[in-house]
Amino acid sequence: MSDASIDLRDYIRDVPDFPKPGILFRDITPLLKCPIAMSAVIDRLAAPYLDQKIDVVAAAEARGFIFAAPLAIRLNASFVPIRKPGKLPFTSHSLTYDLEYGTDTVQMHVDGVEPSQRVLVLDDLLATGGTVDACCQLLEKCGAEIVGCAFVINLKALGGEQRLSKYPLHSLLTYE
Ligand code: PRP
Ligand code: ADE
Repeated sequence: MSDASIDLRDYIRDVPDFPKPGILFRDITPLLKCPIAMSAVIDRLAAPYLDQKIDVVAAAEARGFIFAAPLAIRLNASFVPIRKPGKLPFTSHSLTYDLEYGTDTVQMHVDGVEPSQRVLVLDDLLATGGTVDACCQLLEKCGAEIVGCAFVINLKALGGEQRLSKYPLHSLLTYE
């Protein structure tokens, strides 16, 4: 099977009413089981950035990590994990952001990025954009330049594109 013949939609399973009634969950685990499809995903995520001199691929836990680490290798870049509070062992920067109800916090090691490094932010899925927006704010607070944000899946109806409109976006699959 060649890369061009792979329709990634065939590897996303729709699970109704998970994690709660009314949510249609886009499950990536069938994709993770197929190395040929995963290889196509990494190639397609990397393609726009091969000549962009990316220094760092950054991603939020947990599903973002799955794609960000192999993408970083493909782009000859560092992988920098962004985590929920209390998970990182070394001195970290934090950013607290608003949710619909309450707040959340993301953290990154102080030596994760250097000022002016060119960073690609990666996640498996774009919904409201809150996760990646917080990651970008944290990275920018540390002086990084956000070159773009890339996703395997974009759930267009949830408005993430608008929330991240100041950054160039790249998505492999869009669900209207
Ligand atoms: C999911 C997904 C994205 C985020 C997208 O992560 O992996 O990171 O939600 O939603 P948003 O655009 O509205 O921020 P989740 O918080 O479920 O955590 P997980 O990766 O640990 O499953
Ligand atoms: N994260 C946020 N919304 C999601 C959805 N509908 N499917 C999978 N992951 C998600």
